[in-house]
Amino acid sequence: MTEEAIIDIRHLSHTFKGGFKALDDVNLNFGVGVFGLLGPNGAGKSTLMRILCTLLPPSFGEVRVCGHDVTKDPMAIRSQLGYLPQEFGAWRSHRVEEVLDTLAQLSGMLDKPSRREQVTRVLEDVGLADVADRKVKKLSGGMLRRLGVAQALIHGPKVIVVDEPTVGLDPEERIRFRNVMTSLGRDRTILLSTHIVADLGGACKEIALLDGGQIIYQGTPSGLVSAAVGHVFQVSVSEMEFANIENDYEVVSTSVGSGSIAVRGVSHTDQLPDGAEIVQEPSLEESYMAFMAARGRSGLASQAEEHIEDNAVNEASQ
Ligand SMILES: Nc1ncnc2c1ncn2[C@@H]1O[C@H](COP(=O)(O)OP(=O)(O)O)[C@@H](O)[C@H]1O
Ligand SMILES: [Mg+2]
Repeated sequence: MTEEAIIDIRHLSHTFKGGFKALDDVNLNFGVGVFGLLGPNGAGKSTLMRILCTLLPPSFGEVRVCGHDVTKDPMAIRSQLGYLPQEFGAWRSHRVEEVLDTLAQLSGMLDKPSRREQVTRVLEDVGLADVADRKVKKLSGGMLRRLGVAQALIHGPKVIVVDEPTVGLDPEERIRFRNVMTSLGRDRTILLSTHIVADLGGACKEIALLDGGQIIYQGTPSGLVSAAVGHVFQVSVSEMEFANIENDYEVVSTSVGSGSIAVRGVSHTDQLPDGAEIVQEPSLEESYMAFMAARGRSGLASQAEEHIEDNAVNEASQ
C-alpha cells in the first residue's frame, strides 16, 4: 500500500460498446514515485490510462486522481495531470521550443517571461535543452518521446501518465528515458505502461501486472522476483534434449556451446527438467514470465516490438 493514494482506483470495470470487457474489477493505488503498469498487448493498459486521463468515462467503479473523481470532476484532474499517449506525433515543422511555448500558452500561462522560464526548465528536465532550436522532424525517436514528456510536464502537473514510452527506442535512449523518469518521479506520481519488462527494472517503486483486464500483481519489483524463485532454472543439454525442454517449459534464453546448449527457462509448476539448477536471482523479465506461465499464459518471450507510425496521430494532450 502506498502512503497517500494520488491515484485511487476501486472496482473499475470497462466494457466497450460492442460488449468487450477490457477492464475487470481493477483495484489499484499509487502515491508519489514511478510506477509501472506491465502487461501483454491487449491487456487493457491504454484503456486504463485513458480513463485516468478523463478521456474515456469508465463503465463501472470509482477512479480518483488527486482526490477528484474522473466522471464528476474531469476538469480539476486535467489541470493536475499530464498525458503522453501511446501515439504521440508532435508538430513536425515547428521548433522544439515553439511547440512547448505554444502548449504552455494554451494551458493558460500568459505571462511571457515566466513561460520562457518554465519551457527552459522543462527542456532541461527531459534533457532536450541542447536541441531547443531544432525542428521536431529532425529529432531522434528518443528525443521525440522526451519531447512528449516535456509537453505533458509543461503545466507543472502532479501526475504524469505515459503510455508505452519506449516502443521503438534504441537501448541507449531507453536508459536515458528511464533516468529522466526516475528524476521526475522524486516529487510526482508517474505511471508508465509497457509490455517490455526490461524497460521497468529498478526505476519503479511498484509494478502492477495487468492481464486480460485484471490486475494479477501489485507490489515491488523485488517481490515479483522473490515469488519467481524456484520456477526459473538453468540447465545444459544436448540438441535432442533441448527439443523436449522447449515442449515442456518456457525457454527464456539459450547459448550454444560446443556440443551442448545452455538454457534458461521457466516452469509453470514446481517440476524442473532433470539436472536443472534453480536460478537464485532471476531477472525481472524471467520473473514476469514465471508469473504468467503459472497462469497458463505462454509465448511471452517474443516481446515483439512495433514501431511507432511516423505520422502518428496527435491526441489531445492535456
Ligand atoms: N474502442 C474500442 N472498442 C472495442 N474494443 C476496444 C477498443 N479499444 C480497445 N479495445 C480492446 O480492448 C482490449 C484492451 O486494449 P488496450 O487497452 O489498448 O490494451 P493495451 O494497451 O494493454 O495493449 C483489446 O482487446 C482491444 O482490442
Ligand atoms: Mg496500449
